Amino acid sequence: MRVHWSPVLLAWMRGTSGVIVSNITLMTESNRTDYALQNEVASLHCNYQTAQDETVSSVRWEWKRRGSEERIEVYVWRPNRRPVAKEIFFGRTEISNSDPTVIIIRQAHMEMEGNYRCVVQTNEMQGYTDFQFYVIVDACQDNVWTTHLDMDTCTDTISMHCVGLFPKPASSCGVYNEDTRTFLTNLPFDRVLTLRNHTYEITLTNTFLIRDWTSYTNISLRCFFVIEGTSWRRGIVYKLFGDYGCDPVPPSPGPGTFNMSEEKSCWSRPREGALVHYSCNSTTSLRGPETLVCRNGSWVPELNSLSRNAKPYCNVASRLAVNLLLGLISVSVVIGSNLLSKL
Ligand SMILES: *[C@@H]1O[C@H](CO)[C@@H](O)[C@H](O)[C@H]1NC(C)=O
Ligand SMILES: *[C@@H]1O[C@H](CO)[C@@H](O)[C@H](O)[C@H]1NC(C)=O
Ligand SMILES: *[C@@H]1O[C@H](CO)[C@@H](O)[C@H](O)[C@H]1NC(C)=O
Ligand SMILES: *[C@@H]1O[C@H](CO)[C@@H](O)[C@H](O)[C@H]1NC(C)=O
Ligand SMILES: *[C@@H]1O[C@H](CO)[C@@H](O)[C@H](O)[C@H]1NC(C)=O
Ligand SMILES: *[C@@H]1O[C@H](CO)[C@@H](O)[C@H](O)[C@H]1NC(C)=O
Ligand SMILES: *[C@@H]1O[C@H](CO)[C@@H](O)[C@H](O)[C@H]1NC(C)=O
Repeated sequence: MRVHWSPVLLAWMRGTSGVIVSNITLMTESNRTDYALQNEVASLHCNYQTAQDETVSSVRWEWKRRGSEERIEVYVWRPNRRPVAKEIFFGRTEISNSDPTVIIIRQAHMEMEGNYRCVVQTNEMQGYTDFQFYVIVDACQDNVWTTHLDMDTCTDTISMHCVGLFPKPASSCGVYNEDTRTFLTNLPFDRVLTLRNHTYEITLTNTFLIRDWTSYTNISLRCFFVIEGTSWRRGIVYKLFGDYGCDPVPPSPGPGTFNMSEEKSCWSRPREGALVHYSCNSTTSLRGPETLVCRNGSWVPELNSLSRNAKPYCNVASRLAVNLLLGLISVSVVIGSNLLSKL
């Protein structure tokens, strides 16, 4: 049986402090550390520490393609020599670079994806560490998605066709309840094909009918390509069936009337943009906004110059005051005439 000892542990057991290879880190021209995009400038850093008096005789990089067990030497640094770049790195790195700890990749390429091992050899001992390098071909922008809402039938259709993505993405897709912030369904891709050049072609089509969703009022389709092991994700958040709409009973003006435009949301409520016109009885006059509009689920004045909370109302106060005044005058006239008649 072969026991695999970590270099750190070995050094500790021997009671000597030799080279410690702590990790490999990535840095790209866009300052990302978890993946590189195809064609980006990127560098891989082998972070190690040596003991005093310990000298490094070589830094070798091995690469293992995804799904393969074979490790292939792809880059070697030796003191006082130009680094040697082979295989996937041949012609694609800065060979004038003399820093033993780093590979400078002029253009990241999807072929470079895989598991890397940096092996540091010193006059004392050897140490190594591993790293998963992701190179992403970012082929699926927002324009691969199309959506269509048929307002007559309240049928929402979404489709996606993406060609040339790499590596193979996972789907993070489903109907999402915006109110509770939870996924209600999980939607896989319809088809994922491997193309000749090893990139992927992915399709998805789905139709949603309002009758299946009437018990929710704020739902969206959240659909993303995800590449596991990285923070990369691409996709859309699309509000399904449009807006819920406004209260079918708009604010009452008091002693007056209103009429409402006909547009209905998929939930049979007044739709965004619907208008309510107010008018008052002949004996009253309208105060506040004359027209309310359905905006973001609320009835608000159509004119932006008015406060959002302003509501139309039919004012009877002035008429009442006049009536009261007339009443007072008539009462005093009666009293006056009574007094006169007494005299
Ligand atoms: C990357 O980081 C460097 C240093 O912090 C900064 O100068 C540069 O503008 C950054 N580049 C991008 C693309 O964010
Ligand atoms: C990698 O190792 C260096 C020390 O060699 C340390 O400073 C750094 O935080 C480590 N990075 C990660 C991502 O672990
Ligand atoms: C791979 O092939 C597809 C389809 O022919 C093409 O659209 C895409 O650009 C190619 N991608 C690369 C990285 O060569
Ligand atoms: C629906 O949810 C989104 C996201 O949480 C929120 O921004 C929006 O205001 C909500 N709409 C309504 C009408 O509640
Ligand atoms: C004013 O109009 C409302 C609604 O049409 C009605 O119910 C009310 O009787 C009217 N009042 C007067 C004083 O005309
Ligand atoms: C609705 O009210 C507005 C303003 O009062 C009026 O101009 C319009 O003709 C009314 N429409 C209908 C269909 O009654
Ligand atoms: C829309 O309405 C929702 C819920 O009523 C609210 O949370 C959100 O802030 C509103 N958005 C805007 C832009 O007014």
